[in-house]
Amino acid sequence: MQLRRLVTDGFRNLVAPDLTATRFVVLHGPNAQGKTNALEAIHLVATLKPLRGRRLRDLVTWGTDRAVVSAWVEHQGVERHYRVEIGKEGRTAKLDGKRVSDLQDYFAGVRAIAFTPQDGRVVSGEPSRRRAWLDRAAFTASPAHLDRVRVYRQCLAQKAALLRSDRPDPAVLDTLDLQLVQHGAQLAHRRAEMLDELTPHIQQLHEGIAGGEGEVTLTYATRAAGDDLAARCDALAQRLSEVRGRELDRRTTLAGPQLDDVKILLDGKPARTFASRGQTRSLVLSLKLAEMVAARNRGQVPLFLIDDASSELDATRTARLVALLADLGAQVFATTTDPGPIVAALPADDTLLVGVSQGVLTAS
Ligand SMILES: Nc1ncnc2c1ncn2[C@@H]1O[C@H](COP(=O)(O)OP(=O)(O)OP(=O)(O)O)[C@@H](O)[C@H]1O
Ligand SMILES: [Mg+2]
Repeated sequence: MQLRRLVTDGFRNLVAPDLTATRFVVLHGPNAQGKTNALEAIHLVATLKPLRGRRLRDLVTWGTDRAVVSAWVEHQGVERHYRVEIGKEGRTAKLDGKRVSDLQDYFAGVRAIAFTPQDGRVVSGEPSRRRAWLDRAAFTASPAHLDRVRVYRQCLAQKAALLRSDRPDPAVLDTLDLQLVQHGAQLAHRRAEMLDELTPHIQQLHEGIAGGEGEVTLTYATRAAGDDLAARCDALAQRLSEVRGRELDRRTTLAGPQLDDVKILLDGKPARTFASRGQTRSLVLSLKLAEMVAARNRGQVPLFLIDDASSELDATRTARLVALLADLGAQVFATTTDPGPIVAALPADDTLLVGVSQGVLTAS
């Protein structure tokens, strides 16, 4: 997929940009000019989520009440118009002028993976960060995963509400646990499958990016363990019955794939606690690029967004990364205060340099 044109209105500090993109786009300029904001506009239209923070309304230019991002994206020979509006009533997404009712439709033609300075947390942060990465990888590979996560969350929210109520009905709790077993085991199973699919790519990419920095192993840590879906269902059912008493005492849910983790080891030691900053970065980059490879193997190559390339990557890593992305056929948007190293690694005839100054984008 390739983003051809980007237009925004009322988005952060950007002053009505209208950008015609090539395969590699480097947004450069001093600090606080709007480089990351431009990347954020692309991220919004490609993922419907903010790149930083959680609140969509922070994306709206201060003092105004509506932000619009429009992108024309070509995928498998067809160009479609994606438009996202953030207003007082929340977010509206349109595809070729029509309001989107099925998000799978929307994401069939546009997806993006971002690599930002905050992503070290995928390796060093809470398990939720790694679950989110794995869920996103499963989603990037196939948008149907969105429903799997949503249905499980709904069941879990119902059970949490019931446990908080006075004297929860045990029969209703049993029914909810049955549903949680079914949807939870499926979710865990899909995540474990996805991790199995990603692991060889991660190992190979890590070797390419970090050279001799050590060997990576990954395991999906879950109580819904088992060789197949039926075994996972049994294990999760068993676990839920074990914790039932405590759940009632504490009035909260205490088991299920919402607590799972991806254990990442570097040379046999937990990367979460032992990896250095540089090692963490190489690991994160391998995880993110593995998502790209898995999506490519299914016929789609998402956009790749790199925020603050100069602070995150030295010249050698930049060159290796660019070579990998070019091999994948990905379109790349990168921000940097120092365009030298990344520009040196990119093919001049397919690279657009965009200067960013006080929210104004100028292609050169
Ligand atoms: N909602 C908003 N409305 C208007 N301006 C905003 C909004 N949100 C952020 N800004 C401004 O946008 C400016 C540019 O932010 P951005 O993060 O894109 O800078 P940058 O060029 O990536 O800088 P750096 O090199 O430091 O990362 C900030 O100074 C901030 O004040
Ligand atoms: Mg920035």
